[in-house]
Amino acid sequence: MTIEKIISDAVSKAVKELYGAAVAPETIVPQATKKEFEGHLTIVVFPFLKISRKAPEATAQEIGAWLERNCPAVGRYNVVKGFLNISISPAFWLDVLRQIDSDPDYGIKRPDADSDLVMVEYSSPNTNKPLHLGHVRNNLLGYSLACILAANGHKVVKTNIVNDRGIHICKSMLAWQKWGNGATPESTGKKGDHLIGDFYVEFSKRLARDTKEIMERDNVDKEEAERRSPLMAEAREMLRRWEAGDPEVRALWKRMNQWVYDGFDVTYRRLGVDFDKIYYESDTYLEGKDLVLGGIEKGIMYRKDDGSVWADLTADGLDHKLLLRADGTSVYMTQDIGTAKLRYQDFPIAKMIYVVGNEQNYHFQVLSLLLDKLGFKWGKDLTHFSYGMVELHNGKMKSREGTVVDADDLIDAMIASAKETAADRFSDMTTEEADEIARVVGLGALKYFLLKVDPRKNMLFNPEESIDFNGNTGPFLQYTYARIRSVLRRAGEAGLSRDVELALPNEKETALIQKLADFRGVVAEAGRRYSPALVANYCYELAKKYNQFYHDYSILREEDAGVRALRLMLSDATARVLRTGTGLLGMEMPERM
Ligand code: ARG
Repeated sequence: MTIEKIISDAVSKAVKELYGAAVAPETIVPQATKKEFEGHLTIVVFPFLKISRKAPEATAQEIGAWLERNCPAVGRYNVVKGFLNISISPAFWLDVLRQIDSDPDYGIKRPDADSDLVMVEYSSPNTNKPLHLGHVRNNLLGYSLACILAANGHKVVKTNIVNDRGIHICKSMLAWQKWGNGATPESTGKKGDHLIGDFYVEFSKRLARDTKEIMERDNVDKEEAERRSPLMAEAREMLRRWEAGDPEVRALWKRMNQWVYDGFDVTYRRLGVDFDKIYYESDTYLEGKDLVLGGIEKGIMYRKDDGSVWADLTADGLDHKLLLRADGTSVYMTQDIGTAKLRYQDFPIAKMIYVVGNEQNYHFQVLSLLLDKLGFKWGKDLTHFSYGMVELHNGKMKSREGTVVDADDLIDAMIASAKETAADRFSDMTTEEADEIARVVGLGALKYFLLKVDPRKNMLFNPEESIDFNGNTGPFLQYTYARIRSVLRRAGEAGLSRDVELALPNEKETALIQKLADFRGVVAEAGRRYSPALVANYCYELAKKYNQFYHDYSILREEDAGVRALRLMLSDATARVLRTGTGLLGMEMPERM
């Protein structure tokens, strides 16, 4: 039971005994006491005045006195106007610390047989380009959200929909066929996703050149010129052949997509993210097509004269939405309808969360509505976890004009920068050890910086700031953790026993215990609000509190064995909570640094 719960139960009882009227404990929410007052938890007594028929001060006094007599957790109290500030007794705090210490899963609620299943979709790349900074934010958010939901006792299935078919992939394929001279990842030494991305860029360049020529030649607008371009016609023809199952096109598609997957896998592994089940658009779009065609009979969709299929959503305040093109080929939305249906067929999903950028807000509004209209009772319940754009702050790692920041380049640069920043710390380590720490720190900096902000906000990633050991950064947390681990190692080496009667915590130690005790509530709140940022900022506050404590007191050199053992236990608990908390952000913690 949390300390907040113990206090709200006790206050409810106090009100009942003192004034004879019941107040539900759930309506009594103890707040952390403000810094300028003495106490740990504060109760606002104004809601009880109707019952007590006394002034705020008198009411708070009476309840405080009752608690002091009847609730063992309460040590002292003081009253400031209508606020009852409660100090929890040191012995009680010590008990709280002992419980944290003895619970290997502290802060984590494991799922059981009755837990509901949440599916979290994230990443979901197209196979014509490598992953970029936007994907990095997406992957980190999705992975962290999945960890946080799992820590709240949900069964979680992490999924990914790879948009592996369509005109964009045909463009890369065509460019490779025309100008690739048989280049492969092996022959070029390029990562497969980069190789394909380069052909996509090549296609785009040539198409832009052709389009410009046609615009001048035929005096038409850009869209029309592009439509008239022979290159586009070839790409469209390739897509048509792909949908018709042409063996040659399919074989090329398979081969090139595999290069891309091999490349993605490397990036995913470096980022430390993974998936339980990957869906491919090529396997789901036909299901979507069927549902859309079925929708015509049900009167949910309609066919235009040119053969294209649409849904009229104007009655719901939205647009007309294209679902099948005039040539019968499928669009993005149609695939998503099929994908959703298959997922619900494959898993007993209680909640489906799509981690996708906010430029697709409209898409998900339409998807939810269409699924609902098609009769899926879960259609309305889809959650779009919508996040904002991320761009690179102008600095050393500047992106080239108009190009996106490549995920692999970014990871490399972060690791290099960690190495540079911490070179002096690494001087007495083996190369492998230093490399491993640079990897953990570089990625930790990146992850923490992207996750500590509200996901909905647009943001700038500032590499230099992210790696500053003294700021609100991942490396600051990692450094705090490594420092604690080093204290604990030295305690072990010195043979300092923790098997002694623990001293009662003083005020500052108590404050640290209270912070540790908050962790459970933070994880729960982060799960309710889908917020990795809450966990990140909690970890930062905890690390700051610990550093204050570390600065103020000696641990290893403390003479009193009971006090020393208490401080070691506090240090150990802090390290574990930091590790668990940052683990929910997908961060790793170095044992030394
Ligand atoms: N591949 C898409 C894109 O790059 C994102 C897919 C998001 N997920 C979804 N179920 N629609 O824009």
